[in-house]
Amino acid sequence: MVGSGAREHTLVWKLAQSPKVKEIYTAPGNAGTARLAHNLEVNPTDIESLAKFAQENKIDLTIVGPEAPLAAGIADRFLNIGMPVFGATKAAAEIESSKVFAKELMQQYDIPCAQSTSFADYHQAKEYVQRQKLPVVVKADGLAAGKGVVIAKSVPQALEALASFMKRKTLGAAGDKVIIEECLVGKEMSSFAFTDARTVVLMVPACDYKRIYDNDRGPNTGGMGSFSPPQFFDTALDKAIQENIMTPTVNALRREGRPYKGALYGGLMITNSGPNVLEFNARFGDPETQVILPRLKTDLVDILLAVVNDNLNQIKIEWSEAACVGVVMASAGYPGSHQIGFPITGLDEPDKEILIFHAGTKTGSAQGQILTSGGRVLTVVATGKDIKEARDKVYKNISRIHFKRCYYRRDIARINSGKR
Ligand code: AMP
Ligand code: GLY
Repeated sequence: MVGSGAREHTLVWKLAQSPKVKEIYTAPGNAGTARLAHNLEVNPTDIESLAKFAQENKIDLTIVGPEAPLAAGIADRFLNIGMPVFGATKAAAEIESSKVFAKELMQQYDIPCAQSTSFADYHQAKEYVQRQKLPVVVKADGLAAGKGVVIAKSVPQALEALASFMKRKTLGAAGDKVIIEECLVGKEMSSFAFTDARTVVLMVPACDYKRIYDNDRGPNTGGMGSFSPPQFFDTALDKAIQENIMTPTVNALRREGRPYKGALYGGLMITNSGPNVLEFNARFGDPETQVILPRLKTDLVDILLAVVNDNLNQIKIEWSEAACVGVVMASAGYPGSHQIGFPITGLDEPDKEILIFHAGTKTGSAQGQILTSGGRVLTVVATGKDIKEARDKVYKNISRIHFKRCYYRRDIARINSGKR
C-alpha cells in the first residue's frame, strides 16, 4: 500500500480482513497502519525503491493511494517489470493531473461538465475572463493539492487568480495553463468506480467537506469529513452517473489509447439538468474512502485483483445499506502552520464499533505512545441505520479522543448543512 493518509489506513484495514492476505507493507504508512502492516521508510514518489522492494519481496499486489506517484508513472514502471499494480498509468491518470486534458476529453465525448475554455497565454485569459458572467471559476491545469481552484465573485478576484497561477507561478508549472469555466449551481457529491478499462462498477457515493470551518467557511483543506450515502441520492441519479458520466469516460479514455484501470473518482455537481463533472481524480478519495469501505461487503482483494486481471465483469460487488459518517480530527492551524508531536490519548476509549483511521500519526518512544505528526491526524468513523444515527455515534465518541490543539468540524453530516 503506497501512501500514508487515513485513506490508506482504511484500505489496509479492509485488506487485512481478507483471508487471501498474508502480509501487508505500507510505504510509508502511519501509526495506524503499523498495527496491521509493516511500515517501510519509503516515500510514495520514490518509484524506483518501491519497484525494487516489490520485486525483491515478490509482492502480489501493489495499491497506490495518492495522485503524485500515479502522475509520476508508478503504474507504468510496475507494469514494465511485470509487477501487479492497482492504479492508473501516467497517461490515464492525466484525467486528474491535467485539467485541460480532462476537459478536452469531456467536451469531445459529450460528458456533461461546466462550459469552459483553456488558455496557455496570460493576456488572452485576462481578456476573456473580464467578459464572463460572475461568479467565474479559474482553475490551474496541474496538480495543486486543492489550491488550484478559485471561484471568483468579482473581476479583480479572477484577475488575481490568473496573475497568481500564470505570472507569479505560485503553483509552479501546474499554472502554465488555466481553465476558465462557468460556475455550476447544485448539490455536490463524489462518485467512485472500479474499472478494468471495460467494465465500470460504481461504488456507493459520498459527500465530503473541503473547507476548514463549519458551514463551509475558511480555506480549502484535504477534507474535514464525509458521509455516505448523500441524502439526495437515488437509483435514477445512480443510473445517470453510470450512463452519462463514468462509463462514457472510461470508454473515452480507452478509445484515446489510455485504458484506465483502477479507481476513478468523479467530483460531481448535481444541477437541474443532472450530474455534471467538476473534476476527475485517478484514485480513491480522502476522506470519502473512510466512509465507503466500511460499507463494502465483498472481499476488497477479489475486486482489486479482478481490476488488475481484466475480469471485473466476473464478480458481484455488494454494499451494506448502512449509512456511514467520518469526522477528521486535525491539528489547530491546519491547513496553515500547525504544531505536531503531541501525544494522542483516549484512542481506546470509543465504543467498540467506532473506527479510527490514522493520517498524521507516528509511534512515540514510550510504550504504546502515539504522537501527532501532521495537519490531518485521524478520521473517526461510525456506521448506523441512517446518517443521523451514524453522526450521533461519531460525535459522542470523538470527544473521548484528545491531543493538544485538536480541531474538528461540528457540522459534518448535519441535516441540511451547506449545499448537501
Ligand atoms: P476541484 O478541485 O476541481 O474539485 O474544485 C474544488 C472545488 O471547487 C469543488 O469541490 C467545487 O466545490 C468547486 N468547483 C469547482 N469547479 C466548479 C464549478 N465549475 N462550479 C462550481 N463550483 C466549482
Ligand atoms: N476528497 C477530496 C479528494 O480526495 O481529493
